[in-house]
Amino acid sequence: MAEVSLVLRAPSANRVYAQAAGGLAVAEARWVLGAHLGSVPALRERSIGGMAALEVRQDHGGTATADEADLGRLLGSLSSALGVLDVAEEGPAGTAPLLRPRDLPGTLHHSADLETILRYPGKTNEQFTAMLVNLAAALSTRRAGLFDGALALLDPLCGRGTTLNRALRLGLSPLGAEIDRKDVDAYRTFLSTWLRDHRYRHTLDSTRLTVRGEQLGTRLEVEFAAEKKALREGRGQHLTLLGCDTTRIGELLPSRSVDALVADLPYGVQHGSRAGGAWQRSPLEVLRAAAPGWRSLLRDGAGLALAVNRRTLAHDQAAAVLAEAGLRLLSPDGAFRHRVDQSIDRDVLLAVPTDHPRAEELAALAADQENDTP
Ligand SMILES: C[S@@+](CC[C@H](N)C(=O)[O-])C[C@H]1O[C@@H](n2cnc3c(N)ncnc32)[C@H](O)[C@@H]1O
Repeated sequence: MAEVSLVLRAPSANRVYAQAAGGLAVAEARWVLGAHLGSVPALRERSIGGMAALEVRQDHGGTATADEADLGRLLGSLSSALGVLDVAEEGPAGTAPLLRPRDLPGTLHHSADLETILRYPGKTNEQFTAMLVNLAAALSTRRAGLFDGALALLDPLCGRGTTLNRALRLGLSPLGAEIDRKDVDAYRTFLSTWLRDHRYRHTLDSTRLTVRGEQLGTRLEVEFAAEKKALREGRGQHLTLLGCDTTRIGELLPSRSVDALVADLPYGVQHGSRAGGAWQRSPLEVLRAAAPGWRSLLRDGAGLALAVNRRTLAHDQAAAVLAEAGLRLLSPDGAFRHRVDQSIDRDVLLAVPTDHPRAEELAALAADQENDTP
């Protein structure tokens, strides 16, 4: 018997992203559900009452299936999900099905403005960022930690914190690194204002980052909770932002401590204030220089989701650089391909450490996507 659910897709605020959102929803569900459930359900885009939806059809023919609550939580946590409807009864062809709304457990903490207030050139689309977080988490052997706050997430190129804010809304305690001083300062100012405006109990500490006498930048530590007692007892959420070159973070954070690494790599195109500066390198150079340090921070069972511009970083080049660092690229070329603007043809690279205990199983998820790109 097949169990059919419809994930209603939220309208995308970004016109360009909206055009690609249907295909990306299918690609995200393929990897997230495939990694969590052990097999990929049948997926297709569908329109229901004029609304865009993703159809998920699970055949209970022997392979592992999530229990009801887990499947609901997974479907509801997909980055484009507005709500989930179960198909109670499929009518004859051409007639409307009977639908039953599914009660979903809440997975997001804090108000949505944490993700939406900051606007600046070069900001990664929030819905796309949520997808990257879901993908990296799904590949991790500690993926359940996405829902109980235990997943250790790192964005080593965090800009003004789009990924960090998503992680905070998920109840996580993320880590970030960013070389541009202006971005670090802007994020600190934003977060401290947001915490004050929302009346969170919090502490914010900025210190200098020094390794063996060498000045590397700054370190921001933030801790917050709704109540004083929780903060005092260490039950609050925590955020660490290293204001330094990402190639040095392997020396600064505990090794083998990260479960999910999410990054939107520099696109190699000019982003207003980001032009110039001695640290500007090509995306390939950034990846080559940074990947060994990133690998040293990852647990063997970790997952990575890297957004890249295909015009400035080819899939096979990225695969080679990741392999040199002990990372295996799983997703086929173009698996999440979509056009952002004339100079950015974006894709997502999914990777795991070569020693990942599920590497073969996860690699098999790529096989049926090879010729089926959004
Ligand atoms: C595409 S942007 C990421 C934007 C971010 N997701 C956001 O929404 O704000 C890439 C970021 O990488 C940073 N970056 C580039 N090279 C770096 C390096 N060597 N170390 C640390 N950060 C670097 C850039 O300053 C930029 O903020």
